[in-house]
Amino acid sequence: MCGIVGYIGTQKAAPILLDGLKKLEYRGYDSAGVAVQTSDGVIDIRKEMGRLRILAEKLDGGQVLEGRCGIGHTRWATHGKPDSLNAHPHTNAEQSIVAVHNGIIENYSELKKNLAARGYEFYSETDTEVAIKLVDYYYRGHKDPIKALSEFALRVRGSFALAVLFRDYPDEIYAVRKDSPMIVGIAGGESYLASDVPAILSYTRSVYYVDNLQLCRLGKGTVEFFNLDGERVEKSPVEITWDMKAAEKGGYEHFMLKEMHEQPAVIRDTVNSALQDDNSVDLSETGISEEELKKVRRIIAVGCGSAYHVGVAAQYVIEELAHVPVRVELASEYRYRTPLFQEGDLVIVISQSGETADSLAALRLAKNHGAKTFAVVNVVGSAIAREADFVFYTKAGPEISVATTKAYSAQLAAVYLIALKLAAVRGTVSAERNAELASALRSLPQKVQMLLDEKEEIKRFAFEAMNKKDVFFIGRGIDYAVSIEGSLKLKEISYVHSEAYAAGELKHGTISLIEDGTLVVGLLTQSGVIEKTVSNMEETRTRGAVLAAFTAENNRKLPAGSDWTFRIPETDELFAASLAVVPLQLFAYYLSVLRGNDVDNPRHLAKSVTVE
Ligand code: M6R
Repeated sequence: MCGIVGYIGTQKAAPILLDGLKKLEYRGYDSAGVAVQTSDGVIDIRKEMGRLRILAEKLDGGQVLEGRCGIGHTRWATHGKPDSLNAHPHTNAEQSIVAVHNGIIENYSELKKNLAARGYEFYSETDTEVAIKLVDYYYRGHKDPIKALSEFALRVRGSFALAVLFRDYPDEIYAVRKDSPMIVGIAGGESYLASDVPAILSYTRSVYYVDNLQLCRLGKGTVEFFNLDGERVEKSPVEITWDMKAAEKGGYEHFMLKEMHEQPAVIRDTVNSALQDDNSVDLSETGISEEELKKVRRIIAVGCGSAYHVGVAAQYVIEELAHVPVRVELASEYRYRTPLFQEGDLVIVISQSGETADSLAALRLAKNHGAKTFAVVNVVGSAIAREADFVFYTKAGPEISVATTKAYSAQLAAVYLIALKLAAVRGTVSAERNAELASALRSLPQKVQMLLDEKEEIKRFAFEAMNKKDVFFIGRGIDYAVSIEGSLKLKEISYVHSEAYAAGELKHGTISLIEDGTLVVGLLTQSGVIEKTVSNMEETRTRGAVLAAFTAENNRKLPAGSDWTFRIPETDELFAASLAVVPLQLFAYYLSVLRGNDVDNPRHLAKSVTVE
C-alpha cells in the first residue's frame, strides 16, 4: 500500500527520497511525489501519475531539487482516483504546511464540511488534503507543530501515518501515527523516516518504531518523541538484522521466483527455531509458557488472504494432533462480530506484515475481551507483533513480491510447531508419533527443493493452460486448504478467473459452471478422502472439464482420463500442504509470466493492506 519516506541531513534530499520510494515500490502504488524544503523554508512539491521512474526522470534522479529536507510518497488510491492531483504530497493554501499520509481518515467528509464552513477550499478528492487543512486550522492558533498534530490526532477517526513539513520550521520534519506504521533511523548527521524498513535499510540498521498515537520531530541527525500531551518520550532503537541482499532479486527474473526458491531455507530456519534435537518443541522465545498452553481450550485462528488459508490448514493439523477445537476466522469479518469468548481461548493472529489493518483490529478485539493473543508474524517489531501477548516470528526474511509464497510456507511451518507443542503438553501424541512428525518436518525443505527442481514440467503445464478462462481447484480436508491458496495465487497474479471449492460442495451449485474445456485442478494428498475427490473430478470431466491431478507420489487412485498428473513427494499427510502448494505457486507464476503480467506488482494489489 502507500509508502512514506522522509530525509533531513547534509545531502540533497530528493535523490534519497526517490531511492527510498524505489525500495517501497513492491508495496503497490499508482502515483508518486516528493516535497523538498530549502533552509529558507520554501517547499517545492513534485508529483506524477504512474511509475516512480517517471517522476525520477523528470527530476533527473532528484538532482534538480536543492533542499536537504523532504518527504516522499507512493500512493495507492483510496479516496479519489489515481491521478497527479490526488497524488501526495498535499498542501494547505499557502504551501506552508505540506504532508504525506498513509491510512484512511474515516470522518473526513464531516471534517471537510466543518472546514469548508470556516472558509477552507479543496482542490483534490483526498482525505489527506482534509487532514492537512485540519492541521493548518489547529496550527494557526499557536504555531506549535507538536500541539497541532496532537489536536489533529485526537480529532480524526481512522488510521494515519502523517509526515509533515512546516515552512516556519525549515530544518525539521514532524510525524504522527495511529494504526499505520512509521519508523525513524538516525545515522551520523542524517535522519530518515519511513513507513517500512527496506526504504532506509541501506542508510542505517538502527531504527526506532514510532508507537501508536506518538509524535516525533526529526532534525539533522536527531529525533525526539512525544505523547499527545506534548511530553517527551524516551525510546531505544532496534537493530535490524536482515541481510540487504534479501531485498534484492539476486539474479532471478522476479522476486516471486526468488522467494519461491527460498522456501526450503525458510522452512528449515523456521522449523529449527523451535524444534529441538530431542524432537521436543520449544516455544519459550514466543513468551508463552507450558502452563499457559495447558490452559488452552479453544483456538481461534484469524488472518486475511493467504494468512487465513494457513489458518484453514492449521485447523486440521491442530485438531488432529492436539485435540483442541479450532475456529478459523477472516479478520475482516471477525472484527465486526459480537465475539463470544470463553475461558481458555487463545487467538492466533497470522500475518506476514504484522500491519494488516483487519488482523490488527481482530487482535485488539480479542485483547479487549480478555482473550490471550498469539501472533505468527514475519516482520519484527510490527504492530501485531508488538501488541500480541506472545509472538512466534517466522523466519522468512523480507518478502517483496505481493503474492506471498515463502512467508506462507513459513507460517505453515509455524503452525505445525504450535500443533506439536500443544499435543505434547496435552499428551495427545505418543513419543513415537512425535518423532515421526519431527522427522517429517525436518525433511520438508529437501522435498520442497525436489518440487522446485521439477519446475520445467509445471512451466509446460502453464503453457498448455495459458488460454483457460476458468480454473477450479478442488480438494478435501488439507487439500481444500491448499486449493484455496492455489486459486488465490492464480487469480492475483495471472488475472485468470478461478474458484476453490471443497470438493464435496461442487454438486451444491458450482458444478453448473463447468463447461467444455474448463480446467479442474484436483488435490489428492489425503488418503482418507482421495477416492471421494477423484469421483468429484470425474463428475466434472463428464461435463466437459479437463483435469489436472496433483497427487501424493504413491497414490494410485486417479481420475479416469486425467489430462495432467503431477506427483508430490510423500510426507506425513498432515504436512502435505507445504509440498502441494509449491507446484500451484509455480503454475500461477508461469501463467502470469506467459500472459505478460507484472508478476511482483499485480494490478490493484498492495503488499501490506493497512486500510480496511
Ligand atoms: O501481511 P499479511 O500476511 O497480514 O497479509 C494478508 C494478505 O493480505 C496476504 O496474504 C495476501 O492475500 C497476499 N497477497 C496473498 O498472496
